[in-house]
Amino acid sequence: MPLIHVLNGPNLNLLGMRQPEIYGRETLADLEALCREAARPHDIRFLQSNWEGQIVDWIHEARQEAAAIVINPAALTHTSVAVLDALNAFDGPVIEVHISQVHKREAFRHHSYVSHRADGVIAGLGLGGYVAAIRHVAGLI
Ligand code: DQA
Repeated sequence: MPLIHVLNGPNLNLLGMRQPEIYGRETLADLEALCREAARPHDIRFLQSNWEGQIVDWIHEARQEAAAIVINPAALTHTSVAVLDALNAFDGPVIEVHISQVHKREAFRHHSYVSHRADGVIAGLGLGGYVAAIRHVAGLI
């Protein structure tokens, strides 16, 4: 069964604790459980790192292991050409997810390097955005 990589960038380890008025009260573990349920019968590799290079390495690993990537690059969305370049080396579907509606927030959150590669972008649906993204790619792979 094809594997879906679900990648999470900096500070998402603090989900449920950091700015709950923006990101909600559910934790990263809650999110992982939600994603596993949404993906069935597909398997997922669910990962989070605060380090840009680690995210880049995981995208490289996805080239061999994954049929699709669902990624919330978090702050790296707005800064990282390295994450964009890594995603450009991945052939399968890529969906970019943001928990918050980034376009309603500060201007620096309105630009996404990752959107230059993403096949779809979901913002503002809370954790439900991951569910929608996973169901979408599960239907493609
Ligand atoms: C985020 C939005 C980003 O602007 C922010 O840096 C994050 C999380 C979101 O899920 O809404 O860390 O990607």
